[in-house]
Amino acid sequence: MQSLYSKGFETIYDEMYQTFINYKDEFSFYSAILRRHHKNEVLEIGCGSGNLASYFIKNNFNYSGLDYSLDMINLCKSKNLNNDFILGDMTNFNLNSKIESVIITGRTSSYLLTNRDVNNALKSIYNNLKDDGILCFDFIDANRFFREIKGGKEVIHTANFNQKKYERTSFFNTNTSENFMFNWSAEYYQIENNNKIVIAQDDSEVRAFTKNEWELFLHLNNFELLEFIDRKSYAFDTYVVVAKKIKYDNL
Ligand SMILES: C[S@@+](CC[C@H](N)C(=O)[O-])C[C@H]1O[C@@H](n2cnc3c(N)ncnc32)[C@H](O)[C@@H]1O
Repeated sequence: MQSLYSKGFETIYDEMYQTFINYKDEFSFYSAILRRHHKNEVLEIGCGSGNLASYFIKNNFNYSGLDYSLDMINLCKSKNLNNDFILGDMTNFNLNSKIESVIITGRTSSYLLTNRDVNNALKSIYNNLKDDGILCFDFIDANRFFREIKGGKEVIHTANFNQKKYERTSFFNTNTSENFMFNWSAEYYQIENNNKIVIAQDDSEVRAFTKNEWELFLHLNNFELLEFIDRKSYAFDTYVVVAKKIKYDNL
């Protein structure tokens, strides 16, 4: 299996996703939530190649990024955005000091495959947040997405970056072996003179969630659910969750 986030693929990810995702809009959306809650410090979990980081840093947020791919962290550092990119796993990390808010964007929650992973991630986030800290993340809505992909579905996305053309053919199918998992096979191509050259192939098992699951996960891990925001993304039906850490003396 080709890792989508390392071994050279991180630079292709970096270029391709700048077409798939409008990071300026992502910044406007997430920064508005943080500002509404008076938060200026933010940790982005699954910061990837730093496309969103650059907007937070330019707009004077006190930003740190965390990712478990060393290649992604090195790519972020090579962009000279700031020095605050940390190699770490969201299910078990420790910051030097607690932070006002945590965001997890780009459907990175899909990599929390087991309930144990989800609970460990929420525990780590809880321990690294200040009192009244805000957690904001998106997830693929299993209810809508599974109806769409039941029986298998092919989806093609194209991307243009600096005169380069890319194409990704995805095949999604449900896989209810455990939780609301699905299989995602993808072929990545670069298009040159109308020729499609395969540059990578990836087969992964990822996870979608229902709102009810997150309501319970958050409650069990001492977060107050503030809102679910229905938000279309380039490929998936998505909800964004905004939750607040419940202070210890209020438990
Ligand atoms: C779909 S990408 C999203 C990247 C970025 N947020 C964006 O929108 O472009 C998922 C990122 O999460 C990272 N990731 C996945 N599981 C992780 C974990 N357990 N801990 C930390 N990072 C993780 C991957 O290495 C990858 O960079």
